[in-house]
Amino acid sequence: MTRHFLKDDDISSSEQQEILELALKLKKAPYSVKTFAGPKTVAVIFDKTSTRTRVSFAVGISDLGGYPLIIESQGSQLGVKESIADTAKVLERQVAQIVWRTYAQAGLEEMAQNSNAPVINALSDEYHPCQLLADLLTIQEHKGTLAGLKLAYIGDGNNMANSYLLAGVTAGMHVSIATPNGYSPDEAVVIRAKELAKTTGGSVSVSDSPAEAVTGVDVVATDTWVSMGQESEKKDRIAAFKGFTLDAELLAKAKSDAIVLHCLPAYRGYEISADVIDGSQSVIWDEAENRLHAQKALMVWLAERAK
Ligand code: CP
Ligand code: NVA
Repeated sequence: MTRHFLKDDDISSSEQQEILELALKLKKAPYSVKTFAGPKTVAVIFDKTSTRTRVSFAVGISDLGGYPLIIESQGSQLGVKESIADTAKVLERQVAQIVWRTYAQAGLEEMAQNSNAPVINALSDEYHPCQLLADLLTIQEHKGTLAGLKLAYIGDGNNMANSYLLAGVTAGMHVSIATPNGYSPDEAVVIRAKELAKTTGGSVSVSDSPAEAVTGVDVVATDTWVSMGQESEKKDRIAAFKGFTLDAELLAKAKSDAIVLHCLPAYRGYEISADVIDGSQSVIWDEAENRLHAQKALMVWLAERAK
């Protein structure tokens, strides 16, 4: 059966590890695997703006011998004049995989249900699982391991928070999330992450205390307070997130060798201070580069399992 990658727990712990190991191999030998030789075409569809996702998928697909067909959905029939199901049935006849950045997770599910070509979530309102593969790869490179490490995420209970919960516990990590009241991660995701944690040795804690979440951790992560689609809430959000900036004082509560992650784009002075994001503990450029290697591994892995 065709496998899709719509959310972080669509893969098991051992599958996650397999993909990360392949990513490391591809990082060392970027042109060694030609999964899309032909060239086969991979559709990469954007309903929202992007820099990293666009570049890393385009480069990754060409590294694998394929052709990246970038589709801006505003210029297509998708969602407006034509259903997601019909679009999926057209695409699967012609492309090897479908990568889609969109709003509702339900749209990705509909695309996957109607496509024999693997569908990859390149960010939805609910999850950003490709980013998490890159983040885990970065943590593994800097810390040598994942299972047993402590990770704190400070800020909005958004798609990144949901993905840190699911991907983090899948990797056997201890994930603590601190958000202001009213901005917690999805309750169903927290419950699912707690269930998963029982099988991996990881754990989950959710609070409204950044200091509590960060104390003694190996990895500290944050993300924008205003995700794509929430622009009209900007003013209220900035007020609500007061006290949740990842700054030097907060970071000092983590282990002295803790690393700092941010998926980018970053808003210095809001969710993260300039001295932290540009400081010695920040590994954000490795993280951004690792989108390429992690996604190449994911595409190769999915291609091996496609019908
Ligand atoms: N981190 C990330 O997904 O960046 P883009 O929005 O630029 O793709
Ligand atoms: N939470 C952010 C991530 C951007 C990569 C957003 O959804 O806009």
